[in-house]
Amino acid sequence: MAKDESQLMEKVVSLCKRRGFVFAGSEIYGGLANSWDYGPLGVELKNNIKNLWWKRFVHERSDMVGLDAALIMNPEVWKSSGHLGNFSDALVECKKCHHRFRADHVDKKCPDCGGALTSAKQFNLMFKTFLGPAEDASNTVYFRPETAQAMFVDFKNILETSRKKLPFGVAQIGKAFRNEITPGNFIFRMREFEQMEIEYFIKEQEWEKVFEYWKSQMWLWITDVLGLDKNHIHELEVADGERAHYSKRTIDFEYDFPFGKKELYGLAYRTDFDLKNHFKEAPYKDIEAGEEFYPHVVEPTFGVDRSVLAVLCDAYIEEPASTQGSGEAKAERIVLKLKPSIAPYKVAVFPLLKNKPELVKKAEEIYHDLQKNFAVTFDDRGNIGKRYYSQDEIGTPFCITVDFDTLENDDVTVRDRDTMKQERIKISELKEWFTKKLN
Ligand code: GAP
Repeated sequence: MAKDESQLMEKVVSLCKRRGFVFAGSEIYGGLANSWDYGPLGVELKNNIKNLWWKRFVHERSDMVGLDAALIMNPEVWKSSGHLGNFSDALVECKKCHHRFRADHVDKKCPDCGGALTSAKQFNLMFKTFLGPAEDASNTVYFRPETAQAMFVDFKNILETSRKKLPFGVAQIGKAFRNEITPGNFIFRMREFEQMEIEYFIKEQEWEKVFEYWKSQMWLWITDVLGLDKNHIHELEVADGERAHYSKRTIDFEYDFPFGKKELYGLAYRTDFDLKNHFKEAPYKDIEAGEEFYPHVVEPTFGVDRSVLAVLCDAYIEEPASTQGSGEAKAERIVLKLKPSIAPYKVAVFPLLKNKPELVKKAEEIYHDLQKNFAVTFDDRGNIGKRYYSQDEIGTPFCITVDFDTLENDDVTVRDRDTMKQERIKISELKEWFTKKLN
């Protein structure tokens, strides 16, 4: 398996564009500062990740419930949460070319022209807009910079309607907005991005145990569900003074992105900071003990876009001709070795020849039938070798070919993406066969 790390990023970006995973946003108008659109395959991949996350952390647990809150909240939320006061990065400006940078991303000189830099000023990252027609200060509102706050603000409503007792968690998936000084590295740092967050409410004395528990859950998600190589992940204990204003302990899960080791996810102990700031009176009553108090919070947070990027970088493989199995043209191939559960399509269906109506008809029948259970695609362009190559490049785990023997024997050839081995399978057994293989 060849993996040229130096060009991996360019190759992943090029594949994303070529095959419809991710495009530059507003491209025909010259784009818009690092905004990106997920294309037909990207949205499937991203939705698979979000659905697996929701299944694992909400549906398969009895101590979790979900939320889908508004993106724009009352500005008082951001005063109370400390974001209006504290959610900022230090910004420096080049005195010569006037380009701006995050102070922690540069040394003493401007990286663009070598000019001298100004001293650092704090720059608030909250995205502003106006509510209603009058554009004045009294109508200024903010897009949420994290999904977390609604889970605190709605805490009592959730508690009363779900009848949960501590410990329990609230999960949310959705967009967050930050006016990043220097967005970049493709979908790694954007101004509009998606988060999957859990606020896990506990009694104060349990926080260390619960923190360790969620750390292990995050590792399992990374390795078992996303299928990332554990050697590409590193825990970073975030030092005093570098943590977010609400956190008493934070661990970053860093991933070896092609542009360096950078934050993939975070795990924070937010104490009772948020609930105390939002509620004048303790919002939780322990019925047995007759005590009212402010629950503490452990927060595992997962960036959706960074998950997509890490999964693509980890799965991208170029196989030289010599390592390939027999039976197929021995050309070099690009393969996305995605876990089948994450791959945009699970199965591709091909008629051996497109000018033989009986083969096309049979292949279409199989395609439509499998569509009821799996994400399936159909391809009748070019020759079979090219179709395999095309599906390997987007990570489709299985390809079905309908040939003349199919018409006689009611069976098809199923080809495996990773081993490139082929098997004959009865059409009547395909659903069961794929269900087994894909789980
Ligand atoms: N509620 C806690 C919180 O928002 P964070 O570390 O600021 O913590 C959580 O963000 C996750 O969101 C990060 O670990 C990362 O995966 C993702 N994220 C943060 N800023 C991002 C950006 N500008 N572009 C893409 N993803 C981002």
